[in-house]
Amino acid sequence: MLVLTIESSCDETSAAVVEDGRSILANAVASQIPVHRRYGGVVPELASRNHIRDVHRVIEDALDEAGVALEDIEGFGVTAGPGLVGSLLVGIETAKALAYAFDRPCVGLNHLEAHLTTVLLDLEEMNRPTFPYVGLIVSGGHTDLYVVHGLGDYELLGRTRDDAAGEAFDKVAKMLGLPYPGGVAIDRLARNGDPSRHDFPRPMWTRKNLDFSFSGLKTAVSLHLDEAGIPEGQDLADLCASFQEAVVDVLVMKALAACRQNDVQRLVLSGGVACNHRLRQLARKSCIGADVDLFVAPPRLCTDNAAMLGPIAEDRLSSLDGRGFTGYDIRAQSSMSLGRTERKTSSAHR
Ligand code: KG4
Ligand code: ZN
Repeated sequence: MLVLTIESSCDETSAAVVEDGRSILANAVASQIPVHRRYGGVVPELASRNHIRDVHRVIEDALDEAGVALEDIEGFGVTAGPGLVGSLLVGIETAKALAYAFDRPCVGLNHLEAHLTTVLLDLEEMNRPTFPYVGLIVSGGHTDLYVVHGLGDYELLGRTRDDAAGEAFDKVAKMLGLPYPGGVAIDRLARNGDPSRHDFPRPMWTRKNLDFSFSGLKTAVSLHLDEAGIPEGQDLADLCASFQEAVVDVLVMKALAACRQNDVQRLVLSGGVACNHRLRQLARKSCIGADVDLFVAPPRLCTDNAAMLGPIAEDRLSSLDGRGFTGYDIRAQSSMSLGRTERKTSSAHR
């Protein structure tokens, strides 16, 4: 099936054409980073306005690149949540209008599910994982660990109790006076830093459960800055590397514990923080040691984009085969849960 997908949950406006839930024919992304940078974070009202300005252009770009016309599109998929409601609305109303005009089915999709299943796309860089796999979503709003038993079948294992990993990167970057998005800036500086210079806490390290917490680590950095001042040069690089190492250590340790506890030999990292070079490096090394196969999509597919909706759009649309417009009930939702949310208790302490 030839599907057009639209993503506008935060500050990227994106449209993609995906065939059979596997092949990316086009994936156009308009980033709003320069718009929000001067405010140090995403300003929701500005995000909505820029989505309105950009959404038609990215759709045209995607169609052009794929070499198809709107009449050729057999179904539409759009992010319905979680995200900024005003931003989501732009993508949703655009998708609904196009689907209605061409009398095609249209489905609302979960952004977290899209991150978790991006690796099911055909990618030159890697093979697809088979089910089940452990999926770690590390983004600006989420740090969640799941077992993915199949498309649409997710078991939540653990999540952050306070800040998300990306949020911790962004907040610490702000304290250091670094530009938004903070994760990118810290990653870049940390490449030349010494990660052992500061011994920041590894939150929840000794806990047997698979939950995370990053607000204490953020406070530890803040207290250090109160005492020592904002560092520069090599000292700044060392601080970034030490903070990053603390975050990444916990993410990899818990993700591998999740694999072990669930007897799963495949680990998928997804979401914007999965672009982080040290996370990728440590995960690669640790997975080899633990005999776990690691799957991480290329960076352009880890940050928000519409192609990542492809596998789940195909899954939902294929059950509506032959139907005309179906999008009446799609609503923008700021929060949205995913799959079975009961915790595993029997094997959690193995
Ligand atoms: O998945 P995403 O694009 O949007 C959300 O769904 O939140 O993730 C954005 C987050 C931001 O917090 C950003 O700072 C972080 O991903 N990020 C990174 C890197 N690139 C993006 N964090 C650490 N290292 C990176 N290289
Ligand atoms: Zn995201």
